[in-house]
Amino acid sequence: MIIMSEKLENSLKHWLESISSIALLPELEKVKSELLGKSGIVTTALREVSKLPIEKRKIFGEKLNNAKSSIEEAIANQISKIKRSMVEDKMNSEAVDITLPSINESFGSVHLLTRAMRQIRDHYHARGFLVLDGPEIETDFFNFDALNIPKHHPARQSHDTFYIDGFDEVLLRTHTSCVQVRTMLKTGIPVRMISIGKTYRNDKLDSTHSPMFHQVEGLVIDRNSLTVGHLKNELKRFISAFFETDDVAIRLRPSYFPFTEPGMEIDCRCNKNGGKLTITKDGADWLELAGAGMVHPDVFKHCGIDGEVYGFAFGFGLERLVTLRAGVADIRNIYDTDIRWLRYFRSCA
Ligand code: PHE
Repeated sequence: MIIMSEKLENSLKHWLESISSIALLPELEKVKSELLGKSGIVTTALREVSKLPIEKRKIFGEKLNNAKSSIEEAIANQISKIKRSMVEDKMNSEAVDITLPSINESFGSVHLLTRAMRQIRDHYHARGFLVLDGPEIETDFFNFDALNIPKHHPARQSHDTFYIDGFDEVLLRTHTSCVQVRTMLKTGIPVRMISIGKTYRNDKLDSTHSPMFHQVEGLVIDRNSLTVGHLKNELKRFISAFFETDDVAIRLRPSYFPFTEPGMEIDCRCNKNGGKLTITKDGADWLELAGAGMVHPDVFKHCGIDGEVYGFAFGFGLERLVTLRAGVADIRNIYDTDIRWLRYFRSCA
């Protein structure tokens, strides 16, 4: 018999003490197997209990079983103690000091173009316009035909168009006017909408051109007679809001767009002093800002609107507006990811 009855109590005391002093799980496993494993001390002793005389067997057996339960309980307690202290150690070593002051620097900002788009959207929204969008890949019906630019019309040449390989009539829209066509066909009249979005023309990238650029276009149609006066008022309000000044004078200069009659170019009085632009009524210079006009009756016909209707439309190049306002001379800079430009744009807010 490995453990005699009288020795058991001492041994148990010793084992329990050593279990409670262990700090590492593998060590605890080792002790557990030494005591309770298949050939562990307690297991072996329990096996040998049967060899004892009957009266001793009962008493010693009970003592041994109690000892086994105490050991198991001590081991289980010690395991949870070790685990708890591991979690505590981790929490202490990875603690975040929430009393430290926060970092106030902001790491990003809304891009100049995005900011302008949001501003324009909000301006027209407040004036009761719907802000609508359409696909950038269009058919030539929406981009040209419906806008009174049939197949061999010379105006098609001025829109250097990207066609989709293998499709004669599918293209990247050259202006956002397609959204106007879609709106007229879908909702009928009255219409009061703007569209802001990407447009594409096969232009070389230089200081004033980009093969991808953004347009803002507006369209208003009603049965009550709308006039060039309404158009002028709407444009003046916009220029005033965008450049944040009431000191605005605009002029309408005759021009040609197949989808307008009459068509015109919108200029705005300004001063260009050494690259610095000031919009002002008393300015000596004129700034070309937008194309516009009264909607051509043929466009109404193509878009399923008949009867006596009147409408006006206008279109801005977003990049032009944005570069003018921010005093950036080269359109390429606004697509630049150079952090210095991005910081400068943030300062233009
Ligand atoms: N869609 C025209 C363009 O891209 C701009 C425009 C819109 C002109 C509306 C007149 C009226 O050139």
